[in-house]
Amino acid sequence: MKKEITIIGTGYVGLTTGVCLASLGHSIICVDSNREKIKKLRKGEVPIFEPGLAELLESHQANIVFTDDLAEAVKRSQTIFLAVGTPQQNDGSVDLTFFQQAVRQVAQSMHGYKIIVDKSTVPVGTADWVKNEIAKYFKGDFSVVSNPEFLKEGTAVDDFLRPDRVVIGVDKDKKAGEILLDIYSAIDAPKLLTDIKSAELIKYASNAFLATKISFVNEIANICEKTGADILEVAKGIGSDSRIGPKFLKAGIGFGGSCLPKDTAGLIHTALSNNYQPKILQAAQAVNEGQWQIFAEKIRGVLKTNGGDTVGVWGLAFKPDTDDVRYSPAIAIIKELRKDGYKIRVYDPVAQENARAELGEGIIFCASALEAARGTDVLVLATEWPEFLQVDWQELKKTMRSASIADGRNFLPKAELTTDGFNYLGIGRI
Ligand code: UGA
Repeated sequence: MKKEITIIGTGYVGLTTGVCLASLGHSIICVDSNREKIKKLRKGEVPIFEPGLAELLESHQANIVFTDDLAEAVKRSQTIFLAVGTPQQNDGSVDLTFFQQAVRQVAQSMHGYKIIVDKSTVPVGTADWVKNEIAKYFKGDFSVVSNPEFLKEGTAVDDFLRPDRVVIGVDKDKKAGEILLDIYSAIDAPKLLTDIKSAELIKYASNAFLATKISFVNEIANICEKTGADILEVAKGIGSDSRIGPKFLKAGIGFGGSCLPKDTAGLIHTALSNNYQPKILQAAQAVNEGQWQIFAEKIRGVLKTNGGDTVGVWGLAFKPDTDDVRYSPAIAIIKELRKDGYKIRVYDPVAQENARAELGEGIIFCASALEAARGTDVLVLATEWPEFLQVDWQELKKTMRSASIADGRNFLPKAELTTDGFNYLGIGRI
């Protein structure tokens, strides 16, 4: 049944949630305190790079409005999703400032029964805090639900509309659970009704497991290099076991983005604050931090030690199909090589602007992949954008000063490049 829903926060998660729920026929109010963003969204302009999102918004504009008036939005909706950012603090813990502000603003605007849904990634136990906080401002009946998101940047629309599961955490609160099930009724996926704390932990445990899987395969790749095995063969071999599965077994320069590093750190922090040492999670984090450094060392190995050489970098985003450079291993490698004094030329199809803000001066941003390779002594592939496979290898060889390629994602055709006379360095492959 059609529901009136407010979504607070129009970042990757809030906007995708709002637009997708609108596409399911619900009536959505998206709230954000950033007026510029609201103005753009009202004109149908999507401020983030997320394939399919702008098109979906255009076709369901009738079901969605954008506003900065949180109180009015709360008044008009029974269900309120909180989807504001929860960034990482220096000690690995989660910064709940925006989230807590949003909860207080919602509480102060409540006049009748509301369901407050935590969509933001928040540490286990946060829903208890939300209940207590709302009760300070509002004396009537209300429910708090944890409904974590499992959206990958780049495929967020598909992940929302065709998820592996929907998790709904409720405490002895049948009414709220039923309303949430109704909101998601058009989605064909298992719906898991759990208690709130378990739902909160499912989110962290899922991301921490994915992080661990990637660090595991990267560790095996490092062992491959020492022993002469090939990680592509090994990953295929282990991934064919249905208990292990083939996904998230791509070795490379490590996981980045705003989620896997942050949530692994957040879960480690939660465990330590509860007097438990999470050894596997700490190892997954340590392997990831070492992975791009091992690769940077490999790059240095083909360059002159005095820093006079030029390095080309293909890809700046933390993965393809996004303009997000947060915790991108590409950025970490560039910063490291810049310290050594190498000249660095870079190209990314969509993330250049964000990378420029992150990297500042001293980097040459180029208009194409070939341009970034011009006069370089080594070319580094850091993000596996499909357009890099379209490059003419002979032309590339002529463009570069020395034909060395360091492929940080095992993405380029090693056999072809080697035949064409390139010195190819991959991850976990001799
Ligand atoms: C991740 C999770 O996959 C989502 O389920 C979750 O909802 C989301 O975080 C979140 O918490 O919001 P995302 O950060 O968009 O999604 O990106 P992933 O596709 O998980 O990739 C993360 C990093 O791992 C990337 O840097 C990617 O290059 C790397 N990766 C991924 C590998 O190195 N190897 C792989 O096999 C897979």
